[in-house]
Amino acid sequence: MDAAVVTNGVTKRYPKSGDRPPALNGVSLSIRPGGIYGIIGPNGAGKTTFIRICTTQLLPTSGAVTILGEDAVADPRKVRPRIAVIPQESRPLYFLNVDELIYLYLKMRGMDRPEARRRTDAVLDELGLTGERKRLVSRLSGGMRRRAMVAMVLASDAEVLFLDEPTTGLDPLARREVWGAIRRTVRDRRTVILTTHYLDEAEQLAARIALIDRGQVRLEGTGDDLRARVKHPYRVTLDGRVPRAELERYGEVSDVDGGHLVFTRESDARELALRALGSGAKVSMGPVSLEDIFLQVVGHRIDDETPAEEAA
Ligand SMILES: Nc1ncnc2c1ncn2[C@@H]1O[C@H](COP(=O)(O)OP(=O)(O)OP(=O)(O)O)[C@@H](O)[C@H]1O
Ligand SMILES: [Mg+2]
Repeated sequence: MDAAVVTNGVTKRYPKSGDRPPALNGVSLSIRPGGIYGIIGPNGAGKTTFIRICTTQLLPTSGAVTILGEDAVADPRKVRPRIAVIPQESRPLYFLNVDELIYLYLKMRGMDRPEARRRTDAVLDELGLTGERKRLVSRLSGGMRRRAMVAMVLASDAEVLFLDEPTTGLDPLARREVWGAIRRTVRDRRTVILTTHYLDEAEQLAARIALIDRGQVRLEGTGDDLRARVKHPYRVTLDGRVPRAELERYGEVSDVDGGHLVFTRESDARELALRALGSGAKVSMGPVSLEDIFLQVVGHRIDDETPAEEAA
């Protein structure tokens, strides 16, 4: 079976971007078919640019893009029927009701009426939207609207789905509902490629993750692969009883509420934890989270508004 997405040295310079670095700079990724693939990175990292290029909405400046074995740059028409996309911050058409929204989307994709009808009914049922089917999209809550959009692409016959920040702005409950919908999508060997700012979302949903920063793939793989690749794969938090100066030799130290956080190697984590326990400090240790990896690689937290250029 062909890979879902293969990119080779994809670079994008937007016109009139002057001497700014390219939005994408030699991105090579190979995404296997089936399952959920997560793309994370700070604001301006190039995630949307990558999605737009893969979905044939934007041409790369250089590099190759193959979707399901088809050349997306030379033959976009062969790719389009086989993919679906929910662009970042897109909204469904407000003047339709939920049923019409999904049904018309399927019809526009070229599906015949009975098939579009059957799939619309099935997806409404599956996503718990049957009770809302006659409600106008304009009257739905934000979470419901996102769910309706996920339903649209889910009901389609697209083999690869691209979702650019499908849950941004949703409350935790609505996010979970959308996650459930996305998980159901991949049951049948389809591939979902999603970008997100929520690192817990990437960890919970995606089997593999690419971390993009300033147009480049910095890390790629399963959560464990990512952990194995950072310099300090362990985290130790201690209360303030151990002076900061003593911690510095173990790794990277930062101040946290009431104490310190140390990123360190596994053996050092054990030694440090034992020593700190010996001096009566409160200690917790464990492997780094995706959030920690992000912090180590990108240099600031994902919810930190510092632009990438300034954080460098
Ligand atoms: N149409 C455009 N013209 C010029 N520059 C652009 C355009 N779209 C994006 N850029 C620039 O390209 C870079 C990457 O932007 P992109 O939207 O791909 O990032 P992103 O990772 O999706 O960010 P976010 O998390 O904020 O959605 C940014 O520096 C951005 O300013
Ligand atoms: Mg974006």
